[in-house]
Amino acid sequence: MLITRRTLLTASAGGLVLAGLGGRAALADLAKLKQKDSYKIGFAQTESNNPWRLAQTASMKDEAAKRGWQLVYTDAAGSAAKQVADVRSMIAQKVDVILLAPREEKPLIPAVMEAKKAGIPLFLIDRNVDATLATAGKDYVAFIGSDFVKEGHQAAEALTKAVNGQAKIIELQGSTGSSPANDRMKGFADYIKDHPGMQIIASQSGDFARDKGRQVFETLYQAHPDATALYSHNDEMTMGAIAAMEAAGKVPGKDLIIASIDGTKDATQALIDGKVYVVVECNPKFGPKAFDAVERYGRGETIDTWLVNDDRVFTKENAAGYMPEAY
Ligand code: AHR
Repeated sequence: MLITRRTLLTASAGGLVLAGLGGRAALADLAKLKQKDSYKIGFAQTESNNPWRLAQTASMKDEAAKRGWQLVYTDAAGSAAKQVADVRSMIAQKVDVILLAPREEKPLIPAVMEAKKAGIPLFLIDRNVDATLATAGKDYVAFIGSDFVKEGHQAAEALTKAVNGQAKIIELQGSTGSSPANDRMKGFADYIKDHPGMQIIASQSGDFARDKGRQVFETLYQAHPDATALYSHNDEMTMGAIAAMEAAGKVPGKDLIIASIDGTKDATQALIDGKVYVVVECNPKFGPKAFDAVERYGRGETIDTWLVNDDRVFTKENAAGYMPEAY
């Protein structure tokens, strides 16, 4: 069975099922949005240290420019505390709507609740917050983004097939406390528990960053030279790990089979070159979908509490076809 974030939530406490993802926004509880020709939108970005984040920001800026809407943009530079302050500043500037990409699941809860109290509709984009502390459709309008549990599951499925069910795996986790790191870990672990030959022998955070990924992989691989596979929660850490493998005289794609997530240009080239076996897509181009959701909310439409991105799976077979879209 494919266990996704949606099924995990549905299997949790009853209250969560009623108010959780996959339902519909209960308009009575939520901050309202007046219909206008042009909105002042706050976009609170997490950090700008990788191509995924840059592609996401570009998509938001392009969409605002296309529609002639004002964008108040902030970059939290990897600090959850700064991101809370950024949202507070947007509230003070009386933006019409806040689009928040929360760095971590718990520390951004105050930002969500303060926007609600100020009567400003807030959408979570790309990352989620802790669903036991804030509820889509009640505390914020909706979550727009990928199913990270499913991404982890798909990475595990492809990797298991590639190695015939036998691998000693090093896992590079994303930023600690972030929903993609938590859920990608869950989805992968859930799949391999039925495949006893697939063992995670080391797992540590590389903070979704290339150089941190390189350093962490180097340390873990020195401690576990018997590793035969890498599962990395994003392409930037994968590229860092590939550099570490090559520096150690190893051949990525032969000595270690690699599963990754995102769909950057570098990782797509690595698929074509046979260094990476699979990349599960996580699409950063949120602009059109997020701005459409705001527009529909302003028209008084009911918004699904989870607008799920449909992500693809890339291998050597389809990588060249995807490359023109890669970022
Ligand atoms: O939240 C999505 C993740 O965050 C992407 O996989 C990663 O590259 C980014 O920083």
